Amino acid sequence: MSDILCMYYSRTGNTKKTMEEIAEALGAELVELSDGMERGGWKGWLRCGLDAMRRTTTPLKSYKTKRPLKDYRLVILGTPVWAGRCSSVVRCFLKKHGRELKNTAYVLTRKSENKYEEIYDQMDLYTDCPRRVTVSLRCGSVGYTFWQEEFLRQVREFLNNN
Ligand SMILES: Cc1cc2nc3c(=O)[nH]c(=O)nc-3n(C[C@H](O)[C@H](O)[C@H](O)COP(=O)(O)O)c2cc1C
Repeated sequence: MSDILCMYYSRTGNTKKTMEEIAEALGAELVELSDGMERGGWKGWLRCGLDAMRRTTTPLKSYKTKRPLKDYRLVILGTPVWAGRCSSVVRCFLKKHGRELKNTAYVLTRKSENKYEEIYDQMDLYTDCPRRVTVSLRCGSVGYTFWQEEFLRQVREFLNNN
């Protein structure tokens, strides 16, 4: 049973694909988060943007992990960037469970050139441990595979030393 957990929210599939690749490379457990809100189409897009800007969250749909969250050596959280912030779905998870996590790593997916590294600090506000490893990926960009592999290398290094 893996002691690494990958959790993510994905509206249009980019973060899902990225997190599937990461989970497979690390032999990690993979869990998708959802709040069950209708987030498709332009109305959904608007709701996502407003939720992110106002930091409003809606309770998550139930999901299962094989161990209690505190028992994972590392929890890797994947979120799309919404209006320069983390998605409200991942924010909701962090609000409720952030303090149960022993070690975290963050994966952002985005559309623009900006890396939005300030989001890592926003996410850290909900945990008791500063993140160990991060990556901000632009799906389809030239550097995507390079930075994803660099993230995996740093995760392995962290796991070997801790
Ligand atoms: C409401 C909304 C706001 C977004 N804001 C940003 C943004 O500020 N910067 C950015 O680079 N991409 C932004 N995006 C694009 C997504 O972050 C990007 O397409 C991401 O990879 C989507 O991931 P997903 O397919 O897993 O949902 C936004 C998308 C949505 C829906």
